Amino acid sequence: MTVITDERFHSAGFEQEHEDNASRPAPGAASIRLKGLEKSFGGNRVLRGIDLFVPAGQFVAVIGKSGCGKSTLLRILMGLDQPTGGSLGFEDAEGEAVAPNARIVFQEPRLLPWLSVAENVVVGLGEGVPKAEAHAQALDALSEVQLSEKAREWPARLSGGQRQRVALARALVSTPGVLALDEPLGALDALTRISMQELLNRVWRELGFTTVLVTHDVSEAVHLADRVIVLDEGRIALDLPIPYPHPRRHGNPALAELEGRLLGAILGKS
Ligand SMILES: Nc1ncnc2c1ncn2[C@@H]1O[C@H](COP(=O)(O)OP(=O)(O)O)[C@@H](O)[C@H]1O
Ligand SMILES: [Mg+2]
Repeated sequence: MTVITDERFHSAGFEQEHEDNASRPAPGAASIRLKGLEKSFGGNRVLRGIDLFVPAGQFVAVIGKSGCGKSTLLRILMGLDQPTGGSLGFEDAEGEAVAPNARIVFQEPRLLPWLSVAENVVVGLGEGVPKAEAHAQALDALSEVQLSEKAREWPARLSGGQRQRVALARALVSTPGVLALDEPLGALDALTRISMQELLNRVWRELGFTTVLVTHDVSEAVHLADRVIVLDEGRIALDLPIPYPHPRRHGNPALAELEGRLLGAILGKS
C-alpha cells in the first residue's frame, strides 16, 4: 500500500492532477486567509493562533475532538462571532480583499414549519427579490438537491435527509462563494449520510464554491475534501492533502491509509 506523504503531494504533479479533476472555482468563490487567528471566551483560549490559506473553490474538512473549537472557527468565518486576535480575510482571484456571499448549514435544518419547502428556500434569498423570480430560483435550488417534487410540501412531511437537503438548497439559492457546513450530516442514518455525501460532492463540483466542512466523521472528511485539517488544543495539528480525483469510491485502501493518519493526529498519536 502506498502512503501518500505531503512531500509526494507537492513533488509528483498533484497540482496538475488536481487542476484536471476538481471543479473550477465559481466566479464569486473567495479564498480564505487566516493569520494568527485567536479566540478566547474569558480565560478559555479556544483558538490559539490559526494560520490557514484556503484557495477559492477548495473543499476543506475540519476535524478534531469535541470542544476543540470547530464551530467557533466556522462562526468567526461567517462573521457571527469576532476573533480576539489575529485576522481573517477573503480574497478574489487577484488577491484583492472581498466580502463574499458566505452561507452556513447546521446539523439541524432549522426550517420554518409554517412555510412550504419552496418558501423555506426563498428565505435564503433575503429581502428584495421579486416574488416570482425568488420562487423560480428556489425551484432551481430544489432541483439541484433533487427535491423538485417536494416544493409545495410542508417540512414536517419530509424525512430528516430531505429536510437537510432543503437547508442546503436554502444556502445554495443565493449562489454562495463560501459555504460552511457544521456537521451537516451528523444527525442522519448511515445510508442517508452516504447519499448526502454524494449529493454534496456533486453540488460542490458543479457550483464551485469554497467549502469548509466541519465533521466528526474522518471517513466523510477523506471522502469529500481536497484537504483535511485537524484542530487540537487551539492549533492546526495536521494539514493533510487528499490527492484523489472526485467523485471518490468508498473503500479505496489509499483513503483508508489517510484516515488512519488523521485518527492518529486526533487522538494525539502522530
Ligand atoms: N459563546 C460561548 N461562550 C463561552 N464559551 C464558548 C462559547 N462558544 C463556545 N465556547 C467554548 O469554546 C470551546 C469550543 O467550542 P466549539 O467551537 O463549539 O467546539 P466544537 O465545535 O469543536 O465541538 C468549548 O470549550 C466551548 O465551551
Ligand atoms: Mg461544534
